[in-house]
Amino acid sequence: MEKILSYIESNHERYLSELKELLAIPSVSSQTERKPEMRRAAEWLKNHMTNIGLQNMQILETGGHPVVYADWLGAAGKPTILVYGHYDVQPEDPVDLWKTPPFEATIRGENLYGRGASDDKGQIFIHLKAIEAFLKNGGALPMNIKIIFEGEEEIGSENLAKFISEHKELLKADVIVISDSGMFAKGVPSVTYALRGLAYMEVEVTGPNGDLHSGSFGGSVHNPIQALTEMIASLHDKNGRITVKGMYDDVRPLTKAERAAFKELPWSDKKYAKSLGLKQLYGEKGFTTLERLWARPTLECNGIWGGYTGEGAKTVLPAKAFAKISMRLVPDQSSEKIAKLFEKHFKAIAPKTVSVHVRNLHGGEPAITPVDSPGVQAAVVALEKGFGKKPLYQREGGSIPIVVDFKKLLGIDSVLLGFGLPDENAHAPNEFLNLDNFFGGIKTVAHYYKEFPNFWKTGNRKK
Ligand code: BES
Ligand code: ZN
Repeated sequence: MEKILSYIESNHERYLSELKELLAIPSVSSQTERKPEMRRAAEWLKNHMTNIGLQNMQILETGGHPVVYADWLGAAGKPTILVYGHYDVQPEDPVDLWKTPPFEATIRGENLYGRGASDDKGQIFIHLKAIEAFLKNGGALPMNIKIIFEGEEEIGSENLAKFISEHKELLKADVIVISDSGMFAKGVPSVTYALRGLAYMEVEVTGPNGDLHSGSFGGSVHNPIQALTEMIASLHDKNGRITVKGMYDDVRPLTKAERAAFKELPWSDKKYAKSLGLKQLYGEKGFTTLERLWARPTLECNGIWGGYTGEGAKTVLPAKAFAKISMRLVPDQSSEKIAKLFEKHFKAIAPKTVSVHVRNLHGGEPAITPVDSPGVQAAVVALEKGFGKKPLYQREGGSIPIVVDFKKLLGIDSVLLGFGLPDENAHAPNEFLNLDNFFGGIKTVAHYYKEFPNFWKTGNRKK
């Protein structure tokens, strides 16, 4: 391992300049005009994986953006790890709020700034650089490795489940590792064992059959923007609970042990509120902040539009108003069921003055993975070696929809080995990756490849 670790140490500069190249490609999966960039990012990865010594590189088509695959299967008799990540990123808007351009990755202080630095290009690169360190020093990895990087995670991984079911043999593995989540805090390495699911809806509220003069008609017509905001306001009660009928029916209650474990974590509401520039936090009564973030369903309005938003004033009573509303889900909720409940509820609360149309944009299931598996136990050891500190167990509020499909279709649990930080502005302006975590992550992943086969043989090795 020493040779591997010192190779990593002595290649910091080059690793960063290569990552900057990947971050320069605006692979925004949700925007049709960026489709060529998606392919360019896939090609860049394929080419890079060739250079570091991986084999069998392929760009595989799906119904949407392509999947990039590569493997190295030279470790006879050893287990196989499947590394999953995504090369697509969220849109860069609002672009004026970036201190340096989103697709010109820039180092400031101890961080690398750029769209995708943390979510998830920086984290997939952690794996590629650990692999390179092995393959360029002795030409072998301690275990077999397969890689799939997808291009649609940020838009709900809609084509990936089908892809997996059509490539079961190609993707056969003993463990799946995903680096697309975070550590609890700076200097606090973590293993994540649960993610929330998602049901993402778009609603359209229609009032009159066309835009109207607000002077001539105001007073006789329910403005659809007003109707919509009244409906949205009613989706939470005064205790911060979601009012959608049936919302909590399938929520698995937190166990006493889990609540106690959350309380042990180094957390301060006060510091958290301050870091967000807030005087006070908000959420469902009766639960702590971590409980609300990790183990309770939530509903957010992600966007709202309608009427006139251009320069100056326009006295219009608009015909329509729209909103994007998403719900984070926890075990044992189902995204399909919740989407149906939402639609029913939203139609039921619509006043007679308007009509509503509800669309289900996409969804993903909540995931909870066992912590006593060899895969997780190897992660604990690898994190301790990589960061010099025992990791803690945490859940996350975000979603990686494919985790549940991996389990269903391939029968494999995913190990969530994330190196992001909660304040790295994922999906927001000035996204960054902390460089200590980038290099600590590479070391950790290198240790993981080395450690996992030991745990695989001995099962859950007691220390
Ligand atoms: N990397 C995130 C998932 C994540 C976020 C894990 C925070 C842990 C903590 C991922 O790229 C992501 O943003 N996923 C989307 C999925 C959605 C579009 C189905 C999300 O959570 O919004
Ligand atoms: Zn991500």
